[in-house]
Amino acid sequence: MPILFDSQTKTFRLDAGTSSYVFCVDPNGFLLHLYYGAKISDTDLSYLLPAGSWSSFSPCAADAGSFCFDNFPLEYPAYGAGDYRVAALSIQGENGCASTLIRYKGHAIRQGKYALAGLPAVYAAPEEGVETLDVTMEDSLTGAEVHLLYGVFPDRNVITRAAVVKNAGSAPFSILKAASAAMDFPTMDYDLIHLYGMWAQERWISREPLTHDTRTVGSLRGSSSHNHNPFAALVSRGADEDHGEAYGFSLIYSGNFAIETECDPYDSARLVMGIHPTDFRWNLAPGESFTTPEAVLVYSDEGIGAMSRTFHKLYRYNLCRGEWKEKKRPILVNNWEATYFDFDEEKLYAIARDAADLGIEMLVMDDGWFGKRNADNSSLGDWYVNEGKLKGGLKALVDRVNGLGLKFGIWFEPEMISPDSDLYRAHPEWCLRAPGREMSLGRSQYVLDMTRADVRQNLFEQMSAILSGANIAYVKWDFNRNLTEAGSALLPAERQQEVFHRYVLGLYELLERLTSAFPHVLFEGCSGGGGRFDPAMLYYSPQIWTSDDTDAVERCRIQYGTSLVYPASSISAHVSASPNHQTGRSTSFETRGNVAMAGAFGYELDLTKLTAEEKELVRKQVAQYHAYYDVIQNGDLYRLISPFENENVCAWEYVSADKREALLTFVVRRCKVNFASFVRMKGLDPNKRYREDSGRVYSGDTLMNAGLNLTRGWRDGDSLLLHFREIEE
Ligand code: GLA
Repeated sequence: MPILFDSQTKTFRLDAGTSSYVFCVDPNGFLLHLYYGAKISDTDLSYLLPAGSWSSFSPCAADAGSFCFDNFPLEYPAYGAGDYRVAALSIQGENGCASTLIRYKGHAIRQGKYALAGLPAVYAAPEEGVETLDVTMEDSLTGAEVHLLYGVFPDRNVITRAAVVKNAGSAPFSILKAASAAMDFPTMDYDLIHLYGMWAQERWISREPLTHDTRTVGSLRGSSSHNHNPFAALVSRGADEDHGEAYGFSLIYSGNFAIETECDPYDSARLVMGIHPTDFRWNLAPGESFTTPEAVLVYSDEGIGAMSRTFHKLYRYNLCRGEWKEKKRPILVNNWEATYFDFDEEKLYAIARDAADLGIEMLVMDDGWFGKRNADNSSLGDWYVNEGKLKGGLKALVDRVNGLGLKFGIWFEPEMISPDSDLYRAHPEWCLRAPGREMSLGRSQYVLDMTRADVRQNLFEQMSAILSGANIAYVKWDFNRNLTEAGSALLPAERQQEVFHRYVLGLYELLERLTSAFPHVLFEGCSGGGGRFDPAMLYYSPQIWTSDDTDAVERCRIQYGTSLVYPASSISAHVSASPNHQTGRSTSFETRGNVAMAGAFGYELDLTKLTAEEKELVRKQVAQYHAYYDVIQNGDLYRLISPFENENVCAWEYVSADKREALLTFVVRRCKVNFASFVRMKGLDPNKRYREDSGRVYSGDTLMNAGLNLTRGWRDGDSLLLHFREIEE
């Protein structure tokens, strides 16, 4: 039973894998957080609460004696009644005041994992034994009933959280903030790790100590964004890949989000994660409910690596869905960097013919096949085939490509509209816009108002016609600008601050409809590369284009950072041309393959221009992909040398669950003269003997303790893939 309630002390203890999470109801009805960390056996932890502090500047809550919130750890802190730290909840009553005070009303423990209406969330099979705790809090003034939901995985260090705010009163109120989770820590001896970046530089790792301030990592771009990922970890000072505590917080959401941390003068720390409160106000009439996105909490006392591996398994098996969740993904060739907009059916067919010859399994036709699109300044919204370009139409091309034994995939950017499009001419009111304000252009396009059912219906019909008109096996769902002037023509003034969130809900609804209607289609998320690489998108598309930067040396950082949370199966990675189109850097064909192998593998270059020697290398890589598929996609990832900490090399390794196989990738990002490189492997069985493919045999303990000597006459961009298999002697 992972959820325990001690009625004597009114304490909840959630036991998730080797972690415990404890909180209690205090005599005033406040929910106080007591503990989160390695598993413990006691439940009554009230002795951990701080002694009350006293200052005339810290008021006591009414009816709560001398209790003042000032330095108490709270489970879901509310704004405006004495807790001055960053809040999880703020409700503005009909009278305009935003003073929120919630007290315990009751709770229920249910078998199974809760689901969230209209929002993606992790799920669990009955045999996983997941339980749900639903704690009801109420604000007697506004009539707000707040359900704090906890999903507890008995066999993994995973606890999920979400909140549902219901208006159980008789007057409307507005939610100004409703976070998905909050967490108070008794000390601030942690480093904050988060993932930041920009276009073509996504998810770089940032790590710095918490200090006495309030900090926000977040996005106001209408999408989770290139700039910040909805993830943060608090790790004990000195924690590394294998040692120390790591608390991972990941938000299953694709829109504006905030992860706020605050450290107070008592040296305690708080983290609050959820929808960004800026420009957010949700009106709730009596009887209505609002559901927050889901937060996933992962605990590790075996370092950051174990935290990542817990996320990888959870997101691969309990978040991704559908036919392609565990199925081997086809090796694809995408024509974007091969042709950009300059293609026709013969050019695509020529690429497909070479692809078939080389063992590649799918051709993806990227941007430029629809309307009259020959550059990025027209036709988004006109999802019908440009027959001038694809003579004979889409079906004829798809059939020909299928005839080569290849699947066929196609690109869409459904949420966008070009001013120069039939759709815009017919429905200018379908864009997001703030009346009176001229609309900003991004990549010559506007954003469709996804809050509108008619817009979604139109997109569903147009896309369905394409997907059912030919044998389409794959869709790349792109999103190439961020939101501005986020107003909707259909909503009244007082609901305009709901637009950002309604947009995301609309997107999820359309994704749900399309993925259900076309269950055989493999969906790949994309947003100018990895601008919407978040767990919510993985619920609909099990792989996401990681970055528009396809340079293997740059990709080391991007993929390394991405791997903090996301599994290899989700990290779409392609071999592209050299010199690289984004950086101009020349890198060997082998290294481009070795780096792309760490994800959902494919090619993004003109195969017809490859030399005979390069074609042989493609064949070799295709064979390697099949040979190493299991260990990469189903194995455990160990990060060995960080490209953020070492300016010359980086390395990572996969180990199969039975520890009989391992694959090491070593990349020289920037060589220097006379440098020695030793790598210690991890995660092996010390007692097994492993043969590296070239013949040398090592014991597991030798590989992990003495390691490998990888000192060679390296050049910039060189790399090595070493494969080990257990031998039985
Ligand atoms: C985005 C994607 C690219 C490509 C282009 C097409 O930038 O990330 O892979 O699809 O759009 O316009």
